This record gives sequence, C-alpha cells and structure tokens, in this order.
Amino acid sequence: MTLLHVDSSILNEQSVSRQLTAAIVKHLSAAKPDARLIHTDLAADPINHLSSAEFLALQGVEPQDEHVKQAVARNAKLVDDFLAADIIIVGAPMYNFTLPTQLRAWLDRLAVPGKTFRYAENGAEGLAKDKRVIVASTRGGLYGEGAPSAFLDHQETYLRSFFGFLGITDITFIRAEGLALGPENRTAAIDAAVSQVGSLTA
Ligand SMILES: Cc1cc2nc3c(=O)[nH]c(=O)nc-3n(C[C@H](O)[C@H](O)[C@H](O)COP(=O)(O)O)c2cc1C
Repeated sequence: MTLLHVDSSILNEQSVSRQLTAAIVKHLSAAKPDARLIHTDLAADPINHLSSAEFLALQGVEPQDEHVKQAVARNAKLVDDFLAADIIIVGAPMYNFTLPTQLRAWLDRLAVPGKTFRYAENGAEGLAKDKRVIVASTRGGLYGEGAPSAFLDHQETYLRSFFGFLGITDITFIRAEGLALGPENRTAAIDAAVSQVGSLTA
C-alpha cells in the first residue's frame, strides 16, 4: 500500500490541517506498517502557477529552457506519485472561501488527459478510480450543512468535484471548523476531528 501525504498550509507548526494529516498518516501507518509513504509539502516546496510551456509539454512540445525542463520533470513526478498512491491524505485549509493556491497548483498538475482522465464519446471519464482520498479540512468559520455561510464553501465542494472528475468517489472529510470562534470552539473542533481520525479504517 502507498500513502501520499500532501500538506498545503502556510501556518507551519500553528497549522491544524498539518496536525490532522500527521495524525491520519500515523493512524494508517500503524494499521499498515509496510505502507510506503510519500510526503509532498506544497508550502515548503511550492509549485508555480501552471505555465503555457508546461501545458504545451503535456501535448508533446519539447521544452528548451532548463527551468521548464525541471518543472516538467517535477510535474511528471507529482502525477506518478498520485497514480502510485492507494490513499491520498490532503491537508486542505480554507483560505478566502476556497483552497490555498499552493494546493490548487498541485491539482492543476494532476488533471492530465490520458493519465488521470479522458474524454470519451459520452463525456469525461476519470481514470484514477479505486483510490481513496482523506481530506483534513480546516476553516475559521462554519460552513457545514445548514450553516448560513454554507454557500460560501468552495473548498470541500471543489475537492469533491475535482477528485470526482478524476474518478475518485471514496472521499472522507475530517473537518475542524469554527477554529477562529474562540479558544473553546477551537479546542473542541480539533478534539472532535482527532477522534474522527481514530475511527478511520486502513
Ligand atoms: C490567508 C488566510 C485566509 C483565510 N480565509 C478564511 C476564510 O475564507 N474562511 C474561513 O472560515 N477561514 C479562513 N481562514 C482561517 C483558516 O481557515 C484557519 O486558520 C485554518 O486553521 C487554516 O488551516 P491551517 O491551520 O491548517 O493553516 C483563513 C486563514 C488564512 C491564513
């Protein structure tokens, strides 16, 4: 089994999503001690916005520039890591109602025609079926079902749509929200999320 652990929070040791992804990986690794682990830190080692040269490389246009060649090689590694993974653990804070741009840049590398999806006669077909995604979702406010601000959630809804497009339907959200609503709410939200991690099956 291969676990792909992806972090994107810019808040380093203050980060709740990092705390939760670490707990998820620890929990799954204890259940599957032989699991191979790949860790990608999109804040410590950020990916640029997808460039036209990188996009053209996917269509067979050979890059000439050394920087582009390196970016293309890294992009290929990111897709290979994703395709190799059985379980993908994603730290996804809400920033300005959506994902950190660091995480969005990673998703831009994963949507590769012929590798992770294809257009068939009846529309798009995801090619990354049979994977499982576990998202550590963190947010300062409240956006759950029934909350007045639920319509502002372009974070969990986006991830569900994106991974669904790639054919992944097994998505679990470990959510800690209301983190900005005072210390008591913060502690309660983190404790509830950590206890949810404990009930994950490997
Ligand atoms: C740049 C930035 C933008 C944020 N935007 C929102 C937001 O739109 N809605 C919200 O509820 N919380 C927002 N927050 C609060 C974060 O979601 C919260 O701090 C959460 O803990 C971030 O996850 P992390 O601790 O893993 O970094 C924002 C935080 C930062 C740093």
